[in-house]
Amino acid sequence: MRTKLVVGNWKMNKTVAEASACIESCVKHVDAKSNVDVAVCPPFTAIARARELLRNTHIQVGAQDVFWKENGAFTGQISASMLSELGCSYCIVGHSEMRGRFGKLEVSESSLGYFSETDHTVNLKIRALIYHSINPILCVGETEAERSAGQTDEVVRRQLTTGLEGIDPAELYFFSVAYEPVWAIGTGNTCESAEANRMCGMIRSTLAELLNADVADVVRILYGGSVRADNSRELFDQSEIDGGLVGGASLDPASFSRIVMSA
Ligand code: PGA
Repeated sequence: MRTKLVVGNWKMNKTVAEASACIESCVKHVDAKSNVDVAVCPPFTAIARARELLRNTHIQVGAQDVFWKENGAFTGQISASMLSELGCSYCIVGHSEMRGRFGKLEVSESSLGYFSETDHTVNLKIRALIYHSINPILCVGETEAERSAGQTDEVVRRQLTTGLEGIDPAELYFFSVAYEPVWAIGTGNTCESAEANRMCGMIRSTLAELLNADVADVVRILYGGSVRADNSRELFDQSEIDGGLVGGASLDPASFSRIVMSA
């Protein structure tokens, strides 16, 4: 039986002061629900403060991205050892927004090239995180155009195959996947629970082929994309969905706690 996992992805929101207030409120609302694993991923600047405030709770802290090199002349980047020092237990990798694929396009087409995550950089990042014992959360998912073209399963399989290429399955027991259809992120168009369940099942059988059945059985597969307090119960009740990666709704402690409770 896999323990459910609910992760808040705050994206580029909250100053340290705002993060502190949000965490203090989250602790009051969420802390007692110890039968669910819970993590919040604030921006890099608020990780240290979040960790300090969460020290004696069961809510863990994660990061939203990492660079795969240990150190060096990589201006603007953060390494896995730096995240480990801050007490991060999780790190999101390959989020569609890092890949330049936005559910609701707020960035001009001409700037999309700056978001350069690929399946290959995802693979390097997962390796760096494993080396530092940080649990990677690999985001996969198709765009609306890919879904309309009937390429959904193929796109997700490719993201998994290249993202995990050459990694020893024995290193992946603490790894999670988040199925996040790009068209559902930040748009309010939540994927229907039956289809989200089918995709999470497809991801699990792909993991069984790429890795092995034992690992595929323990890996937690989350759904992300417009998860809210009023739809999380139905999503989390699906047999293949082991929790959620929650963006917008995780910014409000009351709705985040309702989502955690529904898990
Ligand atoms: P959303 O974002 O819940 O705001 O749709 C989810 C995510 O991007 O992880």
